[in-house]
Amino acid sequence: MKITDTSDVWWKTAVVYCLDVETFMDWNDDGCGDFEGLAQRLDYLAELGVTCLWLMPFYPTADVDDGYDITDFYGVDPRLGTHGDLVEVVRTANDRGMRVIADLVVNHTSNKHPWFRSAESSIDSPYRDFYVWRSDPPPDTSSEVVFPDKENSIWQLSEKTGEWYLHRFYRQQPDLNVTDPKVRDEIAKAMGFWLELGLSGFRMDAVPFLLETSGTDRAEARRLPDPHEFLRQLRSFVGRRTGSGVLLGEVNLPHPQQAQFFGGENGNELTMLFDFLSMQYLYLSLARADAGPLAQALTARPKVSPDNQWATFVRNHDELTLDKLSDAEREAVFAAFGPDPSMQVYGRGLRRRLPPMLDGDPRRIRMVYSLLFSLPGTPVLFYGEEIGMGEDLDLEGRMAVRTPMQWTSGVNGGFSRAPKRRLRRPVVSGGYGPEHVNVADQRTDPDSLLSFMKLLIRRYRECPELGWGEFELLDQPHADVLAHQCRWEDGTMVAVHNLGAEPRSVPLTLDGCDSTHRLEDLLQDGSTPLSDKGKAELRLEGYGYRWLRVTSADSRRLV
Ligand code: NOJ
Repeated sequence: MKITDTSDVWWKTAVVYCLDVETFMDWNDDGCGDFEGLAQRLDYLAELGVTCLWLMPFYPTADVDDGYDITDFYGVDPRLGTHGDLVEVVRTANDRGMRVIADLVVNHTSNKHPWFRSAESSIDSPYRDFYVWRSDPPPDTSSEVVFPDKENSIWQLSEKTGEWYLHRFYRQQPDLNVTDPKVRDEIAKAMGFWLELGLSGFRMDAVPFLLETSGTDRAEARRLPDPHEFLRQLRSFVGRRTGSGVLLGEVNLPHPQQAQFFGGENGNELTMLFDFLSMQYLYLSLARADAGPLAQALTARPKVSPDNQWATFVRNHDELTLDKLSDAEREAVFAAFGPDPSMQVYGRGLRRRLPPMLDGDPRRIRMVYSLLFSLPGTPVLFYGEEIGMGEDLDLEGRMAVRTPMQWTSGVNGGFSRAPKRRLRRPVVSGGYGPEHVNVADQRTDPDSLLSFMKLLIRRYRECPELGWGEFELLDQPHADVLAHQCRWEDGTMVAVHNLGAEPRSVPLTLDGCDSTHRLEDLLQDGSTPLSDKGKAELRLEGYGYRWLRVTSADSRRLV
């Protein structure tokens, strides 16, 4: 492996930025964001250092699940623009050094999708088999629903034929039946269509549910004895069509199953997986000021093939799920970051953004993002994180964190010139409103969070060790400190984070180093010598953080 491989395998050192076109920038003043607005903001994203945009669903939708209920896999929601507008965005993004991937939501369709309309009309419909049906009354499945606030069964009676259909999410989202080869063909065809228009891959929604065939009858299940074969086919299809396209999968499962979704040692299924476990243990670590849980989650990650990668994140567009923590651990995170029931959702998560959870403490907020960018993997940001946006708890459920992007301190935060009442969603008000948190002010302020994020992103991109290297925890005596290193080729980078409020002096010993080596700070000025035995003592403020590059006298690397 060599530095030039990082362009081939671009996604191992990418900086992914997730946004919803509808809440990003409204250019035609109708209150809804659009592709033209996004096009106007591509230079901003490039300047931030983003290298891959992840577009949340932009397809025609019945809008029961904010676009995750699609009525046409080939369409563009007319409120957002046209296929032409999308292609202009992709092309311009590419010109600015950014690739574009999009949500691929094929576990289910909307119940308004023509396939389902036909399927539910008669058991003889040619599309009947596209979905999963049962004729006998279903058992109690209330413990299996994903949205317990709205659903209490994963089966819904369809009056027209008197049978029940499977839906893992809302009842308006009937699950597709991937044991039907026609469904698998349709999914690949839709992917091929968007790849042809210039996308560089997909964020695959709800992958475990997509592969699940347990609701189907035995004869059906026999048609796809190994559902993972379908994922292998999709990965190789994307590879054939684009050469470098990625599948970034949503698989919130324990490590052994995650390893399977990577394709095990062969690494031939999902290219990348979100690291849901490290994300959850990160919050536990923050709540307890104890780096232990995060350290454990990181070291317990299954070793993945060089053809795979972990995608790290702090927040996304959904609830901050804490489903993999024990009840006591979850309660600790709730108590620290969302004690009010209005901040919690589904009994398992928080519907808040990071800065309000940390009481706006700039030291902690920066420490968390410094940590995110220094973890081994590919970091993924959710729009607005770079400026420290907050949430609106008056909005329903997960919509609390999906408010319009805050561009200026002006009307509607510069998101739209439409009258307030016509906005797709209200702009956050109060302390996290655009008067206090916006792009325009932070762009010109070298001390802003935005400027800090740019620095982190630049450093992350300059340290391919983080995306490619071997991760190792470094021994040191403080429970509230996480010290780790990532090594790749002849490069080593050390990161030290203090999760606690007390200043710490951290003794480290770096194997293979001696007094010919130094530690060069990457986020501030400074340099620390190492002793004969490779020892150094690093000082950290409360919630302090340092990134250090190990250099030797003959190192030709720029610092
Ligand atoms: C996961 C998505 O992230 C979420 O927003 C959506 O509601 C469900 N999948 C269903 O598509």
